[in-house]
Amino acid sequence: MSKLSLDRILQSQGFGARKWCQQLIAAGEVTIAGEPITDYRTSIETNGLAFTVYGEEWKFLEHLYLALNKPADYECSRKPSHHPGVLSLLPQQFSNRDVQPVGRLDHDTTGLLLMSDDGAFIHAQSSPKRHIPKVYVATTHDEVTPKLVAQLLKGVKLHDEPELLAAITCVMLDSHRLEIVLEQGKYHQVKRMLAAAGNHCTALCRSQIGQLTLAALDLEAGEWCYLSAAQMAQLVAA
Ligand code: URA
Repeated sequence: MSKLSLDRILQSQGFGARKWCQQLIAAGEVTIAGEPITDYRTSIETNGLAFTVYGEEWKFLEHLYLALNKPADYECSRKPSHHPGVLSLLPQQFSNRDVQPVGRLDHDTTGLLLMSDDGAFIHAQSSPKRHIPKVYVATTHDEVTPKLVAQLLKGVKLHDEPELLAAITCVMLDSHRLEIVLEQGKYHQVKRMLAAAGNHCTALCRSQIGQLTLAALDLEAGEWCYLSAAQMAQLVAA
């Protein structure tokens, strides 16, 4: 059980400063179980709480765990410079809660991107020690060959990386597409590995993290969803 006043609840969920939340409540813009609550001091159980603001439904969540199907031409950086940021694809109150991408995808990379406001989760997911596989589908400029696959599996030397970097698995999908599984998340890793092996990546999509597939989430490009407990449990090594 955890009770909070309604203004604190709205503030915690990213709807704005306390004063602003109090005004929203007084204006009758916040309802619970279909009833406007106009006294901001009303104490409410947060566990399992559903409420509406301006008629839109929300659930109280201590932390946000989201998946986004990232479209091309969006940047993961907090201060995007050449393209809009991925945060602009989420409701504004999520940015107010300091939601961040878990790791980065390049602006032209598409596919599965996790986002959260839980620092411990972001840290754990990004840690190489957890060996969480990430699956990418890379489209190449030149034809893919068994030799290329063998090189990527054996490991290639990247500038500034002391060790050879190798794919965990690498499968030819067709004449110009490879499915590559990596456990690390080095800067431009797939593109640089393909370049080091003598090819060039023309398009890149992340299709899976751990056991969670983008296909199972059924999101259009630019769409996001909350991750269920079952989906969270899939974000692990096999
Ligand atoms: N590897 C890349 O080269 N780019 C990405 O966005 C992700 C992995």
